[in-house]
Amino acid sequence: MIERFIASCREAMTGTDAERCVRELVAELVSAPGAVAAALGEPERAGLVILHRAPDLTVLDFAWAPWMCFKPHDHRMWSVVGIYSGREDNLFWRRTPDRIEAAGARSLGAGDATTLGRDIIHSVVNPIGKMTRAIHVYGGDFFAPPTPRSEWDPETLVERPWDMDDTRRLFAEAEARAATARSGHP
Ligand SMILES: [Fe+2]
Repeated sequence: MIERFIASCREAMTGTDAERCVRELVAELVSAPGAVAAALGEPERAGLVILHRAPDLTVLDFAWAPWMCFKPHDHRMWSVVGIYSGREDNLFWRRTPDRIEAAGARSLGAGDATTLGRDIIHSVVNPIGKMTRAIHVYGGDFFAPPTPRSEWDPETLVERPWDMDDTRRLFAEAEARAATARSGHP
């Protein structure tokens, strides 16, 4: 199922309207959320798994830890998000002269798919006490964007360079916090 999905995305990339085609493919995929979850299996930990990586296309399987908040960031390439378990609350931001300000929000649940434009700035909250799982497709190499990606300090909302190590740490900390909350021990 996943192999077929990736092959279809690869084929879509050869067309003139790849972004719209990929959105339709993601929407079709997550319209059977239980089947996607079964195909990908239970994640051992929060974080992202690379399902496909090429210069023009990246497919990631995201597992947001329970109640995790993820810092504002941009992608420098279009992307499509499809949720197959849980809920992903997206906050959208716009630039001001010296930082960013909140500009909108969209809550996505299992079966929802949406496109994010190449310049979008968003932050993500998993508002529930279990992992939220999502397929994220990017119209480029997520790990090598055409121009360096930015993130914004969640407290001051000031721009800074994207930090992948900090990103890995955020996932690990969120997972540890959720495990502590579940066990009832500090
Ligand atoms: Fe993102």
